[in-house]
Amino acid sequence: MAPKAVLSGNENMTGRIIGKELIELGSVGSTNKEAAERLALSQVAHGTVILAHEQTDGRGQRGRSWVSGSSLDLTFSIVLLPSRLRASDQFKLAKVAALAVQEVVQAKVLNEVKIKWPNDVLVERRKIAGILIKNAIVGNMVQSSIVGIGLNVNSRELDEAYLPTSLRLETGVEQDRMTVLEELLSAFERRWVQLETDHPALGSDFSDALWSVGRWTGFELDGNPITARAMDVDSDGRLIVETEDGKVTAYGLERLRFGER
Ligand code: BTN
Repeated sequence: MAPKAVLSGNENMTGRIIGKELIELGSVGSTNKEAAERLALSQVAHGTVILAHEQTDGRGQRGRSWVSGSSLDLTFSIVLLPSRLRASDQFKLAKVAALAVQEVVQAKVLNEVKIKWPNDVLVERRKIAGILIKNAIVGNMVQSSIVGIGLNVNSRELDEAYLPTSLRLETGVEQDRMTVLEELLSAFERRWVQLETDHPALGSDFSDALWSVGRWTGFELDGNPITARAMDVDSDGRLIVETEDGKVTAYGLERLRFGER
């Protein structure tokens, strides 16, 4: 089915930039791909949100697919055109997105909501949201960023292989997706302002929200299983872990990942 585009201005009176332009699509392959195509044609302003009620080819991390319920969950991408974000600071975008999702979900559910490095959002051990960020770097600056967010809202039948959950499963109550989207965009904007103003809470709140900190956990380092405990992230977004020999090292995603649960 061809995407149905509905352009609407921001009708709230908050002067919010994130979501001021909302492009609402019926069915699309991937909102991240759609955003990239429109960005390449210079058709999108900073803060534009592309929302799909159905994604037929949703993309996840490490080439995986992202499956969500048609008109049940939230799948959207936020286009950012930062004016002065250094490439070396790009992990701050992951912090903005993950914290926005984490705080909106935490306000609705009783169980603890944490961020599994780099930016999955978990309720206890179950994944409720995934984030896929694509940055374009020019020189040493981030020229544009597409922040794709998938949040399980009303789905109840999810693939147990991924240990998933949804707001509906956590709360027992059907959620209004567009209200949740509004809340997410407001939270994102607050965190975006923290990024722009170099507010220390962006870093400290992210550290506080990190999943499994201080707990011995299974990881894969260069493809080999190891046991380590996460401590924090460094400014490059690498996870700082202590291994069983007492050594403390920061690793990026190219070397370290959490083991399968
Ligand atoms: C993950 O693997 O955890 C990341 C999942 C990201 C899914 C979102 S849904 C909206 C946007 N469009 C995509 O194709 N992927 C992201």
